[in-house]
Amino acid sequence: MISSKSITIFSDYEALSIAAADHVYQALHDGLQEKGKFVFGCATGGTPARFYQQLLSLLQQHPVSLRSFFTVNLDEYYPMPQSNEQSYYSWMKRIFWHPLQQMNLSFDYERQVLIPDGDVQDPRKEAKQYEDKIRTWGGIDVQILGIGENGHIGFNEPGSERGSRMRLVSLTESTRRTNAKFFGGDIQAVPKQAITMGVETILEAKEILVLVSGKQKAEIMKKIFSAAEPTSDIPATYLLKHPHTHWFFDTDAAALM
Ligand code: PGA
Repeated sequence: MISSKSITIFSDYEALSIAAADHVYQALHDGLQEKGKFVFGCATGGTPARFYQQLLSLLQQHPVSLRSFFTVNLDEYYPMPQSNEQSYYSWMKRIFWHPLQQMNLSFDYERQVLIPDGDVQDPRKEAKQYEDKIRTWGGIDVQILGIGENGHIGFNEPGSERGSRMRLVSLTESTRRTNAKFFGGDIQAVPKQAITMGVETILEAKEILVLVSGKQKAEIMKKIFSAAEPTSDIPATYLLKHPHTHWFFDTDAAALM
């Protein structure tokens, strides 16, 4: 079994979300003070939603200037115009960027966010420019991450290699089925492809905070933590070799470990 240095199990989703927000608030506060800049890797999906609310409320209670705070997202469906309500762009704007901009902390999402454009003609060019931009910003300081029921990270589905970088990928049937709940329950409405950071891109983050909640994740968590070696069959196993990854579980997700 691969051992991971940092695992914390919380009583429930609420406690996990509060702890994750505390952790990120502290990191961004320190980063802005010490380096004058903080680059935050954002994830979308069911799991981080409450975390963003908590982070917004911490920033409301303890304001800091966000002039040098930047966000970078993991992935976007393809094809998917930003204006579509189901785009991750729209989700981020609704859940985090817009409320943050309203707080008068000098955050401007026209200037300070990066999310793949799911409406481009040339996804390869988009992927290359995206990685270049992350590098220009000095890399990701803290990346928030969820885990798919099939062990994917970002949209790096089973089979994704350790060295994979930002690229256009095909979504598995199981991922499209799971995400159909965000498309009115209609799997046909879920795009078949996405642009995602690669495994390597994700592992370049200086610190990774993995949030896992709910009994539907218990089985894959057991598989991840009983893997003898990282394997492309379960891309999340690559995280076990990242030196600064913290796993935050609730008791339901950790039930079989
Ligand atoms: P979820 O998604 O937070 O909606 O469970 C996690 C993922 O698929 O990465």
